[in-house]
Amino acid sequence: MAKSKGKKPAKGGAGKVAEGYTHPDQTLLMRPEAGTQAQFRKKKPPQTYRYDSSLSPALDWDGGNGARELGEWLLSVIERTAALQAPHVLPSPEEFKTADGRVVLSVLSLQEAVDQLKRLSRPFLTWTGKAERLSFDVPTLPLFVHERLSTKAIVETLVGHKTDKQTDFWEMLGDPRHSITDQVLKAYEYPDKWVNRLILGDSLVVMNSLLHYERLGGQGQMIYIDPPYGVKFGSNFQPFVRKRDVSHGDDEDLTREPEMVKAYRDTWELGLHSYLTYMRDRLLLARELLTPSGSVFVQISDENLHHVRELMDEVFGSENKLAQVSFLRGGTQTTEKGLPANADFLLWYARDKDRSKAREMLLDDGGWAARSQDLWLESQTGERRRLAPGESPTAARVFTHRSLESARETGSDLNKFAIEFDGHEFWPKRGWSTTPNGVQRLKESNRFLRIGNSLRFIVYLNDFPYSGLTANWTDTIESGFASERVYVVQTAKKVVQRCILMATDPGDLVLDPTCGSGTTAYVAEQWGRRWITIDTSRVPLALARQRLLTATFPYYELKEPAHGPSGGFVYKRKQNNKGEETGGIVPHVTLKSIANNEPPAEEVLVDRPEIDNKIIRVTGPFCVEATIPTPVDWEGDGVEDSGTGTTEQHGSFIDRMLEILRKSPVLHIGGGKSVTLKNIRPPAKTLSLSAEAMVANGDDKPVALLFGPENGAVSEKLVHEALKEANLRGYTHLYVIGVGIQSNARTLIEKAVDMGMIPATYVQATPDIMMGDLLKNMRSSQIFSVCGLPEVKLHTVKPKCKDDE
Ligand SMILES: C[S@@+](CC[C@H](N)C(=O)[O-])C[C@H]1O[C@@H](n2cnc3c(N)ncnc32)[C@H](O)[C@@H]1O
Repeated sequence: MAKSKGKKPAKGGAGKVAEGYTHPDQTLLMRPEAGTQAQFRKKKPPQTYRYDSSLSPALDWDGGNGARELGEWLLSVIERTAALQAPHVLPSPEEFKTADGRVVLSVLSLQEAVDQLKRLSRPFLTWTGKAERLSFDVPTLPLFVHERLSTKAIVETLVGHKTDKQTDFWEMLGDPRHSITDQVLKAYEYPDKWVNRLILGDSLVVMNSLLHYERLGGQGQMIYIDPPYGVKFGSNFQPFVRKRDVSHGDDEDLTREPEMVKAYRDTWELGLHSYLTYMRDRLLLARELLTPSGSVFVQISDENLHHVRELMDEVFGSENKLAQVSFLRGGTQTTEKGLPANADFLLWYARDKDRSKAREMLLDDGGWAARSQDLWLESQTGERRRLAPGESPTAARVFTHRSLESARETGSDLNKFAIEFDGHEFWPKRGWSTTPNGVQRLKESNRFLRIGNSLRFIVYLNDFPYSGLTANWTDTIESGFASERVYVVQTAKKVVQRCILMATDPGDLVLDPTCGSGTTAYVAEQWGRRWITIDTSRVPLALARQRLLTATFPYYELKEPAHGPSGGFVYKRKQNNKGEETGGIVPHVTLKSIANNEPPAEEVLVDRPEIDNKIIRVTGPFCVEATIPTPVDWEGDGVEDSGTGTTEQHGSFIDRMLEILRKSPVLHIGGGKSVTLKNIRPPAKTLSLSAEAMVANGDDKPVALLFGPENGAVSEKLVHEALKEANLRGYTHLYVIGVGIQSNARTLIEKAVDMGMIPATYVQATPDIMMGDLLKNMRSSQIFSVCGLPEVKLHTVKPKCKDDE
């Protein structure tokens, strides 16, 4: 439970007012619909991100990348500023620039120069490839809208069809308790036409698109990242929607989605070293997406916790760490020696700790955890005694005690006076924290306790029966219905909920670039936060989509309905007939409220807004989007022109394909027929063909082969060039092998003979071709086969009656 002082939920933490954020021009970039992607080719150059070279391994002063020069420059600034009068500030900042003119650092004072020099000598984490990777490019692609979804619209459409099975809708939503007739159906919506987003794509590419195509930089209030915990291929992905018992190292359990295989190949090539690069790049972009008061949570296991924390120190600054949380997870990891692990971790870092929204969370535990030290009992007759070990009292009042001394020097003698109690006289060292009148009221309220020579103020657990959350969460294992998981690595909702309630307000934007089954989106939706979530695999996205579409949530009353959740929720003070507080506003009895004879302060428990039980709330409208690679052509030099490939990568893909084809030379061409190739080799001096081969038991002329791109559909242009060349060079047939094909490219293949060319066949390659050495047992017999399209014919049907028109 998160609290904030006063009646309003606090807008900031740690006594600071956190800054909100505004949309740059209050309008949203309209995303294009899928199908229009061809118009977007090469519209934007890739974005280059640079690392601060002063943090590179050359900090040992021996490298040649500027760290030594930076250190020497800082020493010279220190010499010059030390010679100035205190406070040793230069008239204007001095800048250290790299050879290409980029400003690396600007320093104004002696203190700043000393701090920077100290920073240079801090230990840092290094790994293979880090020193060389001072910058990296990310393609700047548009995101295309594939689906616009709204549970409310679906249900209303179904209801509009007057089916007599209306209650089924609620079963469909996993909420069979309700009848459609007695509930009002609503969803939260946002005034600026904001629509939540489920995006298929690599997190780095999508975050870059959000930053540089859509200008969403600095607008995220919170980012939750739950990356694969390690580098094992099988441990990173769940390959099937309905299969959750995935075993590591079993080929049957490996995903065959081409994007995922490619992502794995590109991402974890160097094992842990690649993992660190993968994480650091994503953390860097995540930071750019955050608003100044925003923060990021990274969920990780103990396997790489230490490394990821070093990375976060590097990208966010160790001074911006807000917490390292450990939370219990279901299932204990077995270990041959040592202790079995049963917890995972959250690393919580602010973009800027001083400005961060980070409010205290409260547990509704009767106040036990917060006041676990030196507990006492007060019987009904007023006798007081220490609680015995293991004793858990029911009838009596439990209390602890605190000092009555002011925490600071009061600066006045008014609060320095003697208090007589229990036959003793007590004097303060610095001053009492209240006045003589206040002391009198505390005495009358029977709030004093003498322990030896010390006067203590009694704090009953009932004064405020809540405990502040610590960084050790032991109540996070979900049980019963709530624990049913749809995804093998699904996070418990409670974990994400706490993060969202601590770090955001209603209407804030929450981003999760590792969507999985969509727990972050689900919890954000529940709590009226806007969300964007990204995953590179279709399997978890399909699970998340269904989970969101079929979810129902409590309807938290809105303070300003016209503004949606952004206007905040309604909180009230309420009691049940036993006098227990049940509302979202609760009293907090304090020494001050008793001493000043004031009503107790009120605090808001953010997770207890008022609920309107007459309304069933469903997920608001959301879009499914993707960075679809546009059909790929070679630039003539063998380079894919999608902006991501390199000649080297393409060359290695062709080599890999040749090798696979030699091992698995059978092309299944439909109708139970197959063609077996032999003598497969690259053709001499070709412009567009990938290989040539002889057909076993065929005529003695070779056939030509064209391999489509590794990372996209075969385009019409590719087929056209290859057909022309194969025709001219006297091949008897062209086989186009790809993982996908554009429809007009397919038409060209089918019409090749009619156009006076040699016959051509499109052969679909299974994604297994990308697995290569990842798979111990490749399904070689089925790698290449013709994939038929459904035969569709359109018939015009005359309307039966006028109503059907
Ligand atoms: C540990 S799971 C997240 C589970 C999630 N917290 C939940 O509650 O279901 C990590 C997810 O990150 C995705 N992923 C891995 N690498 C990615 C990348 N480069 N870009 C986007 N998603 C990625 C995986 O497909 C996987 O679904």
